[in-house]
Amino acid sequence: MSKSIAGFSKLSKSKKIDWIVDTYFSNGETAKNVLKQYWNSDEKLQQLHDEFIENTITNYYLPLGVAPNFLINNRMYTIPMAIEESSVVAAASKAAKFWLDRGGFKTKVISTTKIGQVHFSFLGDFKKLEAFFNHIKPKLYSDSENITKNMTKRGGGIVSIELRNKTTDIPNYYQLHVSFETLDAMGANFINSCLEQFAKTLKSEALDYKVFSENERQIDIIMSILSNYVPNCLVRAEVSCKVEELAESNGISGDAFAKKFVQAVNIAEVEPYRAVTHNKGVMNGIDAVILATGNDFRAVEAGVHAYAARNGQYSSLTHAKIENGIFKFWTEIPLALGTVGGLTGLHPLVKLALEMLHNPSAKELMEIVAVAGLAQNFAALRSLTTTGIQQGHMKMHLMNILNQFEATKDEKQTLTTYFKDQTVSHNAVIEALNKLRQNIEK
Ligand code: MEV
Repeated sequence: MSKSIAGFSKLSKSKKIDWIVDTYFSNGETAKNVLKQYWNSDEKLQQLHDEFIENTITNYYLPLGVAPNFLINNRMYTIPMAIEESSVVAAASKAAKFWLDRGGFKTKVISTTKIGQVHFSFLGDFKKLEAFFNHIKPKLYSDSENITKNMTKRGGGIVSIELRNKTTDIPNYYQLHVSFETLDAMGANFINSCLEQFAKTLKSEALDYKVFSENERQIDIIMSILSNYVPNCLVRAEVSCKVEELAESNGISGDAFAKKFVQAVNIAEVEPYRAVTHNKGVMNGIDAVILATGNDFRAVEAGVHAYAARNGQYSSLTHAKIENGIFKFWTEIPLALGTVGGLTGLHPLVKLALEMLHNPSAKELMEIVAVAGLAQNFAALRSLTTTGIQQGHMKMHLMNILNQFEATKDEKQTLTTYFKDQTVSHNAVIEALNKLRQNIEK
């Protein structure tokens, strides 16, 4: 069993590394060198990264790629994507180019409010609690004014505060259910600070509320936290064109392609096993842009999947139909994003990514991210319903296998040409690489 350690967080970075290396590695020097390889030579930049989290020992790189040619609401974008999976960026670029020639993407933000809740226990009469809530409501607003004043000045803030009776689910359980508008900020800190203030006011005002009995005065705050379920922070992205404009270069008619495509979407709408993979493809695009723009992909993932299951069964995030000869493909997706605060002003690559996107507002970023998801899903379904996914995928995978076997630049070039009309498999690549190396040795 490995050793435990007290006071690890207090150690210096090099002492932390020493402990890790001594505890877990037989060849400590090699491990140290791997970690150091990823340190930035610019000490200030390294310090910035060290301080993003706790106990940092090195940096973990992901490639930052770009997908050009996105026409969104008649404006051109090159979308930055941070992702490790091969073929995602290529697929996004391909879908962008495809729709560039067919009018581009159209988007619309439907709503932008976010929710936070104070969860509490109250032992007593609900009617009295309701009266108490109405009595202290102005104080809930006024006590949080120092937190909300700047946001309110800019047009955001608290939208509504509701008291919810949840006692049919759990005895004595109630909530303050609060809607917020956080403008260009993702707003997690703002929302949580407001909620913690509401909790304080709720608790202290109850102690002085004469109408309550002794028991009723003891409101017990369980927790105060924002919700990552944001069905009212919703954006729509859509593409459409005449069915005949969908004709594929490989001989499939526009009509046949459109019908197959709609069938594939319909399957994801009714079959959870398929819906999960279908939505995973959507999230390939979404997460990559979320990461590149310094947003919280865990929050978005949790919220999006809850939304996909909102009708009681997990279902597709995208939809498609053919109507009067027009093919239409769209998504409506909840995205709580920020373009100010958090990492957005701190991480140099995030700043660069946002500038590349014309420094969008949070609403514009919602639109761009939704487009990335829709484009990714379009590319995946287009491959799946025509050539199959492996053809394109394995071509991209070829480079990963070649890198794994440390192929030289020349070897990569030769084998990329060779595999243009060959099936890529792990074994086939190794065999071809070995053959090439043997031939060169001869
Ligand atoms: C792979 O990362 C994503 C796909 O499986 C998505 C899909 O099946 O729609 C190709």
